[in-house]
Amino acid sequence: MGQLCSERARPISFAGGPSILPPEVLAEVQEAVGELGCSGQSVLELPFTGPGYAAIQDEAETDLRALLGVPPQYRVLFLQGGAYAQFRLVPINLLGPGECAAYVETGYWSARAITEAASVCRVVVAARALNRVPPPATWRIPDEAGYCHVTGNETADGVQLHHVPALERVALVGDLTADLLTGPIDIARFGLIYASAQKNLGAAGLTIVILREDLLGRGRAGIPGPLDYARQAANASRVNTPPVFAVFVAGRMLKWLRRQGGLTQAAARCRRRSETLYAAIEASNFYRCDVEPDDRSRISVCFHLADAGLEPDFLAEAQRRGLHHLRGHPARGGIRACLYNAMPESGAAALADFMAEFAHTHRAGG
Ligand SMILES: Cc1ncc(COP(=O)(O)O)c(C=O)c1O
Repeated sequence: MGQLCSERARPISFAGGPSILPPEVLAEVQEAVGELGCSGQSVLELPFTGPGYAAIQDEAETDLRALLGVPPQYRVLFLQGGAYAQFRLVPINLLGPGECAAYVETGYWSARAITEAASVCRVVVAARALNRVPPPATWRIPDEAGYCHVTGNETADGVQLHHVPALERVALVGDLTADLLTGPIDIARFGLIYASAQKNLGAAGLTIVILREDLLGRGRAGIPGPLDYARQAANASRVNTPPVFAVFVAGRMLKWLRRQGGLTQAAARCRRRSETLYAAIEASNFYRCDVEPDDRSRISVCFHLADAGLEPDFLAEAQRRGLHHLRGHPARGGIRACLYNAMPESGAAALADFMAEFAHTHRAGG
């Protein structure tokens, strides 16, 4: 028998994803995989057409709706393909004839979303900025835009949209892959949001799409069934085999989040963890964060060492201390600490202590 996950000391992973999971959730998953309950089946063996899986998905949807306050006129879809697939699926499913798509470009992931969308529709960049979110009053959204797309958290750049604007004429679409369920949001400000699960909601393989009902069926004809929001909505996200295991893990994460006090508490934890690291960055000129203070991410803290030549030593020494996966996104370099929902506050504190010690040693020429 393997040791229960909660019993062994684990390195702290600051990876961009998949993220660490709470030990309680890992233990529950371990049990559900290995133990055959009264059904005599492991969760990995559940047929997706049976009542066992239907109950798992229904309960996950109920908990997701309760946590986020999803209004009744919104549908929740449990899909696959990751957020990356949504970069093209959103325009294909949402745009009617003659419509274009507006994008706010704030970093690496919104740029990827733009490139993918531009291969299937006309894209207009409504606003563009690096290291900050351009103020919504400056966004230039054309009249013929079918939606305006924002990236809630730029995971590679460390920029976060902290205030979701209320757009009047056009549906707001949000890639909330890195920030969904890290704090309360007003779903009614969005026409559609999407998020991969492997950062704040469990295992890779599941993509959540939440969309307003009136946006269903507006897209083009001939979309393959599993990728067609309207068909998935009409078939309880079971046009084909859904990611059964990832939905199960998401269900356990949602229960855990509710036990931890819901999204207000999740937001408070995000704030405390990130402030611990920003304070460590600001404590000396040894480290540098280029993001405007008001737009700094509470989920992915990106920074540089003033002497970039020391970054390999920083990463190697951090790893020796059990602080893993701190290398910045390959497109951006530097250091990145991702602080998803399961990150304990002690993890951020351990990293801040290490940063102070490393700065002290290397400033002193040690
Ligand atoms: C903001 C954002 N969008 C999209 C993606 C792509 O997600 P996936 O690899 O699940 O398709 C990522 C991955 O890190 C991300 O951070």
